[in-house]
Amino acid sequence: MSGTDGDLDALKARVEQAALGPSVEERGTILALADGLATVSGLPGAELNELVAFPTGARGFVMTLDEDKLHVTFLDPATGLSAGDAVSRTGTLISVPVGEALLGRVIDPLGRPLDGKPAPTTSEARPAERPAPAIIERDFVSEPVETGLLAVDALFAIGRGQRELIIGERQTGKTSIAVDAILNQKGGDMICIYVAIGQRLSAVSRVIDAVERRGDPARTLFVVAEATAEPGLQWIAPFAATSIAEWFRDRGQHVLIVYDDLTKHAATHRELALLSHQPPGREAYPGDIFYLHARLLERSAKMSAAKGAGSLTALPIAEIEAGNLSAYIPTNLISISDGQIVTSAQLFAANQRPAIDVGLSVSRVGGKAQWGAMKAVAGRLRLDYAQYLEMKMFSRFGGFGDAAMKARMAHGAKIAALLNQPRFAPVPVMVQIALLAALDAGALDAADPAGFEALKTALAPRIAAEPRLKALSDHPAKLSDADRALLVDLVKAVLP
Ligand SMILES: Nc1ncnc2c1ncn2[C@@H]1O[C@H](COP(=O)(O)OP(=O)(O)O)[C@@H](O)[C@H]1O
Ligand SMILES: [Mg+2]
Repeated sequence: MSGTDGDLDALKARVEQAALGPSVEERGTILALADGLATVSGLPGAELNELVAFPTGARGFVMTLDEDKLHVTFLDPATGLSAGDAVSRTGTLISVPVGEALLGRVIDPLGRPLDGKPAPTTSEARPAERPAPAIIERDFVSEPVETGLLAVDALFAIGRGQRELIIGERQTGKTSIAVDAILNQKGGDMICIYVAIGQRLSAVSRVIDAVERRGDPARTLFVVAEATAEPGLQWIAPFAATSIAEWFRDRGQHVLIVYDDLTKHAATHRELALLSHQPPGREAYPGDIFYLHARLLERSAKMSAAKGAGSLTALPIAEIEAGNLSAYIPTNLISISDGQIVTSAQLFAANQRPAIDVGLSVSRVGGKAQWGAMKAVAGRLRLDYAQYLEMKMFSRFGGFGDAAMKARMAHGAKIAALLNQPRFAPVPVMVQIALLAALDAGALDAADPAGFEALKTALAPRIAAEPRLKALSDHPAKLSDADRALLVDLVKAVLP
């Protein structure tokens, strides 16, 4: 029986090598399943946001940690799972692939393709939740994001690194404003990310279609968690998309991100919170909803020169009901943002496009980022326009006899007509400056507003063809009297 000794030796060696300490393998068990959420016992070492795996291959992440149990939000359908099934830790936090390869794509919040093309090849992944840049890593907002919308660029200028909320009732043009802003980045240095949360797929396809037809699809990315996606995917979408955006921001690039919309995101958060028995607070939202959106929007920033000088500008969208801006989520979001563009159902019904309520809208830091030349011509615009809207209300009770009043009403009507803009018709910043300079000089007093659309399109080539305006066009920081006069002359020449 040769070989026995050898076998014995091998056995001895194995026994000696065997680690005799307790072997730790964390396994949990599903206690209960609800819509998109599992209550799990065990897994004492699990961390918040850690990915866990189920025997069906489905994945989820740890949403809340209690002493004796935890709640896991599903990222895949829970089909085939039931109470008693095992859950295992993965040791990794929920993360998203980042990198150049994502541009031009439509993906879900985990980076999985939704556009029928192969999975994007990326070499890096980042956690969906990341800390916001510290104060010392930031710089002041000082460069504009041009939206091509006169009503925004002239009245509520947005700066790179700013968070400007777009808020209003449904069907008042909120998405359209954000999409027009994205389309206007064509040919520029901005990367655009549109995050769809809880929307119908048809609505998302319309946005994708608009960008493909009129925008710069190769520099745009869509992160989509539509209404029928797992609540966990909808929940993580804005965070994951922001991590993708930060990768560009941290390389010194400029990113515009649209969250459409955070009202639906708040509703998903409330649903998951109620299912996991967190104590409901105001309007049944859990107490951490403010912090949730604050830590998301804090990640928008203009970075300091030492940090590469990139920027992340956010346009979160929120929907309100019956014009109620003082509901819980709207007030939260308003206080977290650096201003809000309020769309009005009344103005929309009165055919003002975009239907921006000038009295309720504000941009708190954008003024510093507005071009000097724009400031020079837009200074009085807001007040004149607001006064006009007020007088118009009162004039319903009887006409104004006063000639001065009549003149101001006529001037206001011209402003309203100028600010009116169909979708997909961006007005370049130099054309905006020319129009406002002409308005200021009274050159539009006799003009028929019906011709303003044609005027806007005709002006761009005229301005481009004027060598004396080249310096101003390249950098509209200051408006000299000569340039101002030249712009007014160009407008007069184009007017019929
Ligand atoms: N500037 C505009 N000119 C013409 N139509 C517009 C304009 N802005 C929005 N609309 C139309 O109004 C409708 C609602 O716009 P949308 O942006 O989807 O609103 P919301 O996002 O507030 O629900 C859409 O049919 C859109 O085409
Ligand atoms: Mg919308």
